[in-house]
Amino acid sequence: MILALETSCDETAVAVVHQGRVLSSLVSSQTRLHQEYGGVVPELAAREHLRNLLPIARSALKEAGVRREAIDAVAATQGPGLPGALLVGFKAAQAMAFALHKPFVGIHHHEAHLYSPWITGDPWVADFAAFHPNVALIVSGGHTMLVHVRAELDHRVLGSTLDDAAGECFDKVGKLLGLPYPAGPVMDRLATGGNPRTYDFPRPKKNDPDDDFSFSGLKTSVRYFLRDHPGLAEDPQRLKDLCASVQAAIVEVLVAKTMRAAGRCAVDCVTAAGGVTCNTELRRQLARACAARRLTLRVAEAALCTDNAAMVGVLAERKLACGQGLTGLDAEPAPGLALG
Ligand code: KG4
Ligand code: ZN
Repeated sequence: MILALETSCDETAVAVVHQGRVLSSLVSSQTRLHQEYGGVVPELAAREHLRNLLPIARSALKEAGVRREAIDAVAATQGPGLPGALLVGFKAAQAMAFALHKPFVGIHHHEAHLYSPWITGDPWVADFAAFHPNVALIVSGGHTMLVHVRAELDHRVLGSTLDDAAGECFDKVGKLLGLPYPAGPVMDRLATGGNPRTYDFPRPKKNDPDDDFSFSGLKTSVRYFLRDHPGLAEDPQRLKDLCASVQAAIVEVLVAKTMRAAGRCAVDCVTAAGGVTCNTELRRQLARACAARRLTLRVAEAALCTDNAAMVGVLAERKLACGQGLTGLDAEPAPGLALG
């Protein structure tokens, strides 16, 4: 019985996982709190985690129908993430493990994202029997990366963003367009009524042979475009066309690079997770590209795309079962932790 905590950014999340089954998974999002600042304020995020974590942990145990004494191990995200935010969840989890005399598992946030596409059904169960070696696209507000998952718990990072993450690009472009934070979902909605071929924005690194991404130039090109076309984004139809055109550029790069990596790694399966994977057009284009190449596509369910503790618990359980993952109670959170 695993009690898992996730506090790497602005979601306070707790889950209870038993033999691959997610008995409860609660997420308290701080989005509204940070909205007025146009982005996540790290200190506010940490304080909010501190306020909410224990009540959410109690609720998660209650919802799972599990008593504290039944917990076999406690897991928490170790990194990467915001230092103060990570510290709250990581140290709380260590304290719980200490008090309960149970093992503690520190989990890499991105590694947890790698396994969220394998959690399916209602109630959620980790379907590792269906696991296939895959190329995983992890794409959110804080990260954009391609990973070759050769086997369970065996992966190699192929490439990541050199500057802004794709979600950050959505959010920053949205800010230029006067949209509320986080702008990704708003742009997604507006784009459905727009023509993606109206404006031609760059597709950075789309045809480069490496697996890295770069989105800051795209954001800058939108800034110059708006400077040269003042007032254009105030026209409702032009705004929709702009959203659709920028979205098309981001999606095209993500899909093209994912497909090339899948071909080079000779996998028959592509997975995707992270907040941006909620994007309608990205889902549609990934599905189309995978179908054309006869690749299996597994995209995490919407509620598992964004940050959650179910993926942390599932991975922690898997690691313990394979004799891995035990972390000392004196270990520290690692805000810059790289994925090996
Ligand atoms: O995974 P997540 O909840 O948090 C981290 O960044 O770790 O991802 C949030 C990001 C934000 O940048 C948000 O704008 C983006 O995911 N996002 C979307 C959509 N839904 C969320 N971007 C584009 N289209 C969406 N539908
Ligand atoms: Zn994440």
